[in-house]
Amino acid sequence: MNILVTGSAGFIGYHTSLKLLENKNLKVFGIDNLDDYYSIKIKKDRLKNLIKKSNFRFKLLDINNKKKLKSLFEKNKFTIVIHLAAQPGVTYSIQNPNKYIKSNVMGFFNVLDLSMKYKIKNFIYASSSSVYGKNNNQINKETDSTDNPLSIYSSTKKTNELMAYTYSNLYNFKTIGLRFFTVYGNYSRPDMFFSKLAYSIKNNKKIKVFNNGELFRDFTFVDDVVNCLIKLIKYNIKKDVPAEVFNIGNSKAIKLTKIIKIFEKHYKKKAIIINSKLSNGELKKTKSSMKKLNKSIKINKFINIENGLKIFLKWYDSYYS
Ligand SMILES: NC(=O)c1ccc[n+]([C@@H]2O[C@H](COP(=O)([O-])OP(=O)(O)OC[C@H]3O[C@@H](n4cnc5c(N)ncnc54)[C@H](O)[C@@H]3O)[C@@H](O)[C@H]2O)c1
Repeated sequence: MNILVTGSAGFIGYHTSLKLLENKNLKVFGIDNLDDYYSIKIKKDRLKNLIKKSNFRFKLLDINNKKKLKSLFEKNKFTIVIHLAAQPGVTYSIQNPNKYIKSNVMGFFNVLDLSMKYKIKNFIYASSSSVYGKNNNQINKETDSTDNPLSIYSSTKKTNELMAYTYSNLYNFKTIGLRFFTVYGNYSRPDMFFSKLAYSIKNNKKIKVFNNGELFRDFTFVDDVVNCLIKLIKYNIKKDVPAEVFNIGNSKAIKLTKIIKIFEKHYKKKAIIINSKLSNGELKKTKSSMKKLNKSIKINKFINIENGLKIFLKWYDSYYS
């Protein structure tokens, strides 16, 4: 089986590819444009680990280049597409909306359209917990309204779900959208809170914290995300329109102040916190309902935040030593 992973130099794309490559019967073809939104070095380091595997191939490619993307589909008989390439980040999307429309809407459409035309058996793509937007529910269920996205980033992810549904309906094309809840782990994105917090404490720098840390996130360890994603490759959709969306989260809303305490204990010093007003684009709380995922695939118990952070901090200290 030949699997295309877009965004394979990215955080989740890297871990997904690495896990798939453990199965020698699978071939993984990764593409990425090595965008410079954050350090290209970490993207290249992830790729260095991937290209050591004999069943991995990589091409530097922008998903906006439909001609080259088409020729890639033509030459390689992909069976599955795992589409993770995107411009991430809620706050950055408020300042730079154009980039999101380009990669997350136009780029998404190119991958979706070619996947349908080249008869891909299962098109799995990244959505986001941010689609839940302004809804005050204690727990985010897939059936909740996603009609009020708070940022352009969330709007693009909601758009992806709509486009995927339309293609599933028009062409009987199987699509699975994954609403990831704040993913962390080894090789995490440097623009995300955990990496920024570790950097600031280690280097005695100030760190901006929204709402005095009165913020709750459902932090999810990347290995758990990848295990679910891979199980969903074989998931059979028994509906007239073969489109599904699943939450992938830990189902625990952790307060940011708790995270800060764990980091301070680890580094044996205090974080220098600058309180920052919560922007209109950010959610106060995310907490995933796991019921649908649990019913659909057999999932193992997810790693708790204390153990996940031990793994993350060990990696962080050695990678940035
Ligand atoms: N990490 C999270 O907590 C999280 C949460 C919700 C959703 N997501 C979604 O999951 C997916 C993966 O996220 P991630 O954290 O690994 O982000 P990431 O930025 O590490 O990975 C995305 C990769 O896509 C590549 N890319 C961007 N635009 C591209 C383009 N036009 N052509 C080709 N490649 C392009 C980037 O270079 C990057 O390597 C994204 O779609 C993101 O929106 C992530």
